[in-house]
Amino acid sequence: MTAKRSKSAPRSRPVPVSRPPGPVGLPLGRSGKVHPPYGFGLWALGRWTKEDEARTRSSLLRALEKGVPWLDTAEVYGSGRSERMLGDALSDRPAGAFVPFLTTKVSWEHLRAAQVRASIQQSLHRLARPSVDVYLVHAPDPHVPIGETMGAMELLWKSGKVGAIGVSNFTVPQLEAAQAALPEAEIVVNQVRFNLLDREEGEAIAPYCRKHGIVIEAYTPLARGLLAGRYLDREKPSAELKRYAHSILDEDHFAELRDRARSLRELAREAGVPLPSIALHWLSRQGVAPLFGASQGAQVDELLEAWAVRPSDAVLDRADAIVREGRA
Ligand SMILES: NC(=O)c1ccc[n+]([C@@H]2O[C@H](COP(=O)([O-])OP(=O)(O)OC[C@H]3O[C@@H](n4cnc5c(N)ncnc54)[C@H](OP(=O)(O)O)[C@@H]3O)[C@@H](O)[C@H]2O)c1
Repeated sequence: MTAKRSKSAPRSRPVPVSRPPGPVGLPLGRSGKVHPPYGFGLWALGRWTKEDEARTRSSLLRALEKGVPWLDTAEVYGSGRSERMLGDALSDRPAGAFVPFLTTKVSWEHLRAAQVRASIQQSLHRLARPSVDVYLVHAPDPHVPIGETMGAMELLWKSGKVGAIGVSNFTVPQLEAAQAALPEAEIVVNQVRFNLLDREEGEAIAPYCRKHGIVIEAYTPLARGLLAGRYLDREKPSAELKRYAHSILDEDHFAELRDRARSLRELAREAGVPLPSIALHWLSRQGVAPLFGASQGAQVDELLEAWAVRPSDAVLDRADAIVREGRA
């Protein structure tokens, strides 16, 4: 018996994307610089056991070896261990080796002006770099006036320690307040949770970010592995993973989202593309830069192979419809 194809399954051929750098990148505000189209993040679930650290190091080394154009970290990841690991890995490279675009973040607990100044010093020390490309406020703190934080960020930008200023997990009113508090600098990036299955935060800020030329960096682009094909059959997400996966893996949502992810997997099979190609290029087609995670070098390889295949627009439209309408 031949497998039944859904009525409008698009069969157009995937378009190969040259790599690196794939799609050229996104304008970084008015700076004339370019933000890479995708990157790899060094978060490791926030638990940072020795095993996590070893896995993250091997993924990082693979990402560097393969020329991933952007690496993201934060002072809170492993309480500085993520930044130190990245700094060590970059320092161990031969002189003249390619240095990826680097982003790091000041913790939401360090948003007083003196704390911002101390945090960047410590981050640059751990990273063993004189500057980072973009320095992000990791999340707003309602107890600290945004003007104080942004005033300190602007001074760092003027001093050259940070190439540009970004934010993360900011809503539109928070973005407006942050931009209004910067006399000269501009906000070039907002990093938010955004994937095919969990798009509320991304879609809420997208029109404002597009209008003001702010790059949307999408974290959790693979829905913590669901859009890489995990948890669709026998494997169950661990309790710890659920803790860190927002609502995607909550009991109330999981069965429904898994059904949609299974339909996406079917679509990917019919279209002859890897499932993560659909997840990553659904974001990229909207001008959003996906920031994926990986706990093994082999996952990095698979994701880069997936990135190198751009599904046709018809396939991406179908993927969008499957999730939006919940139909297979
Ligand atoms: N600004 C913020 O508040 C914020 C918040 C969260 C994340 N981030 C950033 O975004 C980055 C990515 O976030 P994320 O880790 O949630 O993203 P994700 O890309 O949605 O999930 C990554 C996880 O998916 C699984 N995976 C990846 N490739 C796979 C493959 N080929 N096969 C099977 N499973 C695969 C791995 O799970 P296992 O580890 O279980 O193997 C991996 O750790 C972070 O590292 C961090 O830099 C920022």
